Amino acid sequence: MKRSNTFLSSISKKYIMALAGMFLMLFLVFHLSTNLLMLVGDGEAFERAVEFLTLNPAVKIMEYVLFAGFLIHIALGFVLMIHNYRARPVKYHRPLRTETSPFSRFMFHTGMIILVFLVFHFLHFFFVKLGWVDMPAGVSDRHDFYSMAVILFQNPLYSALYWLSFVFLGFHLKHAFQSAFQSLGLNHTKYTPAIKVIGTIYAILISVGFAIIPFYFLFIYSP
Ligand code: HEM
Repeated sequence: MKRSNTFLSSISKKYIMALAGMFLMLFLVFHLSTNLLMLVGDGEAFERAVEFLTLNPAVKIMEYVLFAGFLIHIALGFVLMIHNYRARPVKYHRPLRTETSPFSRFMFHTGMIILVFLVFHFLHFFFVKLGWVDMPAGVSDRHDFYSMAVILFQNPLYSALYWLSFVFLGFHLKHAFQSAFQSLGLNHTKYTPAIKVIGTIYAILISVGFAIIPFYFLFIYSP
């Protein structure tokens, strides 16, 4: 009885984690679309979008939902990792050859790298907006993300750290996409191969899409 309870709760944890993950994947589409506006007409369209989002009370509420989504997803990631570790019956001396892909085996590790990236990312954008961190020299408004992006991404090391993070983000998303469908019970011999292909395309578009922004400010942008 206890066993089946544990099993059921681990299924529901996976279910909630998948729902939170899907929400985060939608956020990434929205976040990327807004940020790509930085590349259009000296960032005027981006600034108008930021102004609209900053003044919109619905966006403020969504920000709380977003952070709740992140916290739930990360907390359940830890719980499931510990659960899986404890459930391993024998500690083999030599690792077994498994059918699982490296993307699925390293979900926890790539997730941790994204978490470190997020802390780093918040220190330079989100926490500046909140007034928790000083603005970089040369920026006079806490909401002037465009000038912050110009200053930060023109530093090759800063851009390189972002690119590296986007590689791990891509690996994480590639498996996350199909895994979310599976956890929600939406897998089917007919549709699962298509879901895998769409997941791979999604992961590539998101990571390459984000990577274009530092590339633009480092190599193309001229003041
Ligand atoms: C070149 C890539 C990126 C740029 C230029 C960028 C830019 C920004 C900016 C300007 C903000 C502040 C927006 C505001 O608070 O109103 C922000 C916040 C945020 N970013 Fe990014 N971002 C990038 C990549 C990412 C990635 C890959 C993730 C997730 C893995 C992410 C997650 C977040 C989150 C959760 C927030 C706080 C919520 C929000 O304000 O919307 N960002 N980012």
